[in-house]
Formats: sequence, C-alpha cells, structure tokens
Amino acid sequence: MSYYQQAFDVTSQPAWKALQEHRDVMQNFNMRRTFLADPERFHEFSMSCCGLFLDYSKNLVTQETRDLLVNLAREAGLAEATRAMFAGEPVNASEGRPVLHTALRRPMGDSLLIDGHNIMRDVHAALAQMTDIVGRIHNKLWRGYNDKAITDVVNIGIGGSYLGPELVSEALLPYTQQSGVRCHYLANIDGSEFRELTARLNAETTLFIISSKTFGTLETLKNAQAARTWYLAKGGTEEKLYRHFIAVSSNKQAAVEFGIREKNIFPMWDWVGGRYSLWSAIGLPIALAIGMANFKDLLSGAYAMDCHFRDEPLENNMPVLLAMLGVWYHNFWGAQTHAFLPYDHYLRNFVKHLQQMDMESNGKSVRQDGSPVSCGTGPVIWGGVGCNGQHAYHQLLHQGTPLIPADFIVPVVSHNPVADHHQWLYANCLSQSQALMLGKSREEAEAELRGKGLPEAEVKRLAPHKVIPGNRPSNTLVVETLNPSRLGALIALYEHKVFVQGVVWGINSFDQWGVELGKELGKNLYGRLTAYEAPPAEDSSTQGLIDYFRGRHRG
Ligand code: F6P
Repeated sequence: MSYYQQAFDVTSQPAWKALQEHRDVMQNFNMRRTFLADPERFHEFSMSCCGLFLDYSKNLVTQETRDLLVNLAREAGLAEATRAMFAGEPVNASEGRPVLHTALRRPMGDSLLIDGHNIMRDVHAALAQMTDIVGRIHNKLWRGYNDKAITDVVNIGIGGSYLGPELVSEALLPYTQQSGVRCHYLANIDGSEFRELTARLNAETTLFIISSKTFGTLETLKNAQAARTWYLAKGGTEEKLYRHFIAVSSNKQAAVEFGIREKNIFPMWDWVGGRYSLWSAIGLPIALAIGMANFKDLLSGAYAMDCHFRDEPLENNMPVLLAMLGVWYHNFWGAQTHAFLPYDHYLRNFVKHLQQMDMESNGKSVRQDGSPVSCGTGPVIWGGVGCNGQHAYHQLLHQGTPLIPADFIVPVVSHNPVADHHQWLYANCLSQSQALMLGKSREEAEAELRGKGLPEAEVKRLAPHKVIPGNRPSNTLVVETLNPSRLGALIALYEHKVFVQGVVWGINSFDQWGVELGKELGKNLYGRLTAYEAPPAEDSSTQGLIDYFRGRHRG
C-alpha cells in the first residue's frame, strides 16, 4: 500500500520517541556556549545548492538532533513519498489526483506518462503557446480594438492564480523586458481595488488575463465581468473583445462561455495545485513582464532544486533539513508560528505566497486516511521585509514569550547599489539573527548600565527590562544576486519543505476543503443580504450583522 493510502502516525515511530527523549537532553542547550566551544559549527551546519547558501548553525541542534530528525523523515517514508509524487501517483488522495508541479519544470524531451498519456508534450506545447503570445505582444503584433499595441496586462485571479505570479514578476523587476508590458494584479472582489486599478488604465491598450484553474472562483468571475463592462463602457466592442480577454484555465468550456476564443485559452491541469501553479501558464504575466527566456530560467532553477531534493541524501538535502528543523520546533519545542524575514525589497511579497503555499497545504487536522492527527501540523507563517520589521514586530522575536523560529533571506549582491546601503542591509540582517542567538544576559545588562554611570539602584531597576533571553533559533539563506533561476530554486525549496512536513505529519498537503465551507456560506449569505425576503440566519450574530447592512442599504 502506498504512503498516501495509509494511516501513518508519526508519534508512534521510534525516531519520534528518540526525539522526545533528546528534547529533554537539549533543554539546557546553549547556542552561544556551543559556538564558543566549537569553531567548526558554521561549517558543520551549513550547505549550498542551486545558488543558495543555507546557514542553519543558529539552531537548537547538535549532530545527534540532525541524525534523529533525518531518521524521522526516513521512518515517515519520505523516500517513497517523494518517488510517488515525482512519478505522478495520486498522492492527493482525497481528490484522487497526482501532484506534478515538478513536471512543469522538466526539460523538453523528458516523458512522463499519466494514464498512458505523455503529459510532458502538453507542458511543452503550453510553453510554446506562451512563447507565441509573449512574442506577439512584445513585438506589438497583438493589438487592441482600435489597433493600438498592448501596454498593460491585468491578471484577474486570486490565491494561487495571483500570489505566485505577483511575487515573481515583482521579484524579477530588474529583468523586465524593454519591449515588455506593465503587469497589474486584480484579486479581491473589493470594488475599491477594481476602481483604483482601472482608473490608471487605458481600455484601448489593456489586455486582461482571466486566470482561474476552475473558472468558477467568485472573486475572479466578478472581476472579469466588471472588466468586461468597463472595456465596453470605454468604447471597446463585443466583436473585438477577443483582443482584450484571454484566459488560463482547465475549464475551457466556462472560459468559452465567458466569451474567450478557444485558441486564446491556455491550459491548466488537474495535476497542478493552484498554489503550485506559477510554473504553468498561470505564470503568463511573469513571462509577459520578463520574457520567455527568463521564464524558462526560472523553471530551470526550480528543476535544479527538484533534482537536488529527489537525489541528495536526506542529511544533505536542503528542503529536508529546513522541513525537519520546522518539525523540531513545532512538535518538540511548542513553536506555533514561523517567521520569514526577507532582507530584499524584491522579495517583499514572498511571505504572502509562502502563507498560501504552507498554510493552505498543511493546515490540516486529519491524516490521509481521515483519522485525526496526533500531533500539531502546519504552523502559522508570517513575517515581512527587513529592515522594516526590525522597527515593528522584531521586538516580540527578541523578548516576547513565544518561541518563534525565523528564516532570514538575503541576497549577497544588490541589483541597485546605493552608496553603502546594501552593506547596511546585510549587516542588519546578520545583526538580527545574531541578537536572537546571543541575547543579553543579566550580567551584561547590568555592566552596560553601570558603564553609563547609573546609580546601583537604577541599574537594578532597569536591568530586567534590558535582558534578552537569546538562544532563539534561525536559518539564514544567502542568495547570490537574485536572478530568475535562483528565485526558481528558492520557491521550489519551500515547496518541497512543505511537502516533507506534510509527509511527516501523514496529511494530504494538496487539498483545501476548509476554504470551501466559507465559499458555500458566502453564497448563502449573499442571498440573505440581497433577497427581498430571506429566512433568518442560523445565529443571532450573523443575523444582527445582516440587519445592520440591510438597514443601511434599504430603499
Ligand atoms: O480558495 C482556495 C483556492 O481554491 C486556491 O487553492 C486557489 O489557488 C484559488 O482558490 C483560486 O482558484 P482558481 O484558480 O480555480 O480560481
């Protein structure tokens, strides 16, 4: 029986029990002392691959911890799970689907049979279709209803049909093509977002991509309809609508019914999850911004990470190490959240993408067979761009009560050297992970205050406030200049990290039934807000809020 059909209970594994005992031994582990005692620690706990360098020495780990964590991954059947995912077995068991975002990155000439059909042909045919439209738009051959060239592209999509493309097109801004177009994203159903965006656009030169795997997502369909109305109101014609609306979807019929020409519909497949889809034609706005050559470099970077993840031994496998460190803190040290702190303006949207990737994947409470999990699963993912966070929430990282492991991400070379800013940015990044690790002892705090000449009573009064516990764990990922291939590797790194954790917890990382309930209730509530007469809501809070709205909009 495959791993995705079994009731796997990680907590009954020998390695889990060994880790519980080891956790007690590690209770008084002190990173500061360990660094002093072992000058080789940085080398022992760091590695590089695919243009990324990972320092994980500032963690509450010894070599024994690493061995035990790797054993746990082994006992969880990670090798078999990885093989099954890459081979296209239905590892998304609740939906009976393979999970093959890795296929989207595989080179031309590879083959992968799913139900006897070589899906690699479809993947490369879609890339060719993308190359064609990108070329036509960049070369000004694709023209709007009154023959003006396209200058702006609006991606209408939400969730995975938005976050990944937005992250990448903004992260790779320095690679924007001269001949490229401006990319905009319209995700929320909030009319303010629609108004603010369209106010800056010219309908004659704007192309809308309706990006929706299902072509059934409310926000996307409402925005698509509003965009169509706007286009017509601005002088566009029904006859030339096809020049302004294209789609990416696995639901061709619905896209055609919306009015999109069949040849302008780019494919998506059931075997690609929304949050893993930026590598498919969902990434079309990326390709329109940075060109197909750069888009293909993004794919090759991710492919290099796929090969690393699939082939490297677990103890030297970057996604596995990051995943197991997460398991260590979440399941054995009670860490409920994980912070991502990119020190790079271009990665400012990374956290949003990771939030969907991680929390929609591993926010689960039952195992693959439907039985309840016996340990915590996905942590809360949060964070934001450094240095801004230093002047906001880092205080809690340093002196708050919760233990919050953090990933720092920083490029070693900036695309935009301004005076000595990048040196300062890099120094700030290191200062944070160092401060988290070193902290400040009571003795140091007192000595510092005495050094300022404060009276002893004042020293004693202030010292407790200045004590910083330290010993707080973090990883630092250093990226060479952030280029398309390294960004591809970086995103794929986290995709595989999330996968590994899902395997260890025995859950299905590829469904998202939880979000469906809200969608169903949303439709029902819309009816109650707008119908002339509607049955009362199930609870008085919801009814009270409905009445408030109806009272305001009466007549
Ligand atoms: O709401 C969750 C979700 O289903 C995500 O998984 C998905 O990325 C998003 O909605 C958008 O879905 P679609 O691409 O089908 O419009």
